Amino acid sequence: MPREVNVHLLPRHFEPEALRGGIAVVIDLLRATTTIVTALANGARCVLPCGDIETAKRVAADLPVGSVLLGGERRGVRIEGFDLDNSPAAYSAERVTGKTIVFTTTNGTAALMRSREADRVLVGSLVNRRAVAWAVAADDRPVHLVCAGTDGRVTAEDVAAAGAIVTELEAFLRGDVLIDDTALIAAKFWAAESSTTESLLSVLRHSRGGSNLVELGFDRDIEFAAHVDSYDLVGEFFPRTGEVRAVRSNPVPLPYGRT
Ligand code: MLT
Repeated sequence: MPREVNVHLLPRHFEPEALRGGIAVVIDLLRATTTIVTALANGARCVLPCGDIETAKRVAADLPVGSVLLGGERRGVRIEGFDLDNSPAAYSAERVTGKTIVFTTTNGTAALMRSREADRVLVGSLVNRRAVAWAVAADDRPVHLVCAGTDGRVTAEDVAAAGAIVTELEAFLRGDVLIDDTALIAAKFWAAESSTTESLLSVLRHSRGGSNLVELGFDRDIEFAAHVDSYDLVGEFFPRTGEVRAVRSNPVPLPYGRT
């Protein structure tokens, strides 16, 4: 049976219960999901996504002093009283190893929350594109790639990342996929815009999320997010505990000679 692959351009494009029985991959390329994956790759114990600032502060206050960092953004910059902003580079091993990161962002954490009805919720970005595609390929449930968007509007950077994952997944499954039209559009967009690093960076910089970051002086975060496959790691959100934890993806056999 071909694998069903759907791309949702915005979280409000689906009802939460429509994801039941499926595997969701939440994408907020610039920057929430890139930052979560980076924090986990650099040794954070887990990330606790929170819907709002007050909840994040309360959750952090209940954890042992010294074990927790508050991270995230509003309007793209660090929240007053928080330890870290939403720059993936800020989540270095020196800073985050062994820590619990209580995390709230404008769009990314909301997209994760809305996807919680899925059987599994994975955290996707370009930095872990292949690892996510592996994890999804090894699972036989329908796939829902959820683009977080920016302030309720579709963003090109999330669509490009969704297209990258669809393309990798199609390759792993040797084309045995049933993709919806949005997945087809995303894959075509990725193919058209990612032929060189320069063209990928250009589309990311001109996207809705990217142009906000350029304006705020975070161009280096766009470059960071464009490093395809830097981490062999998948973040999985466990709604019951509220934690996002690192899970290694088990490579599926690659009979068609890819490495
Ligand atoms: C978000 O979740 O809205 C974004 O990650 C925004 C940002 O990077 O500043």
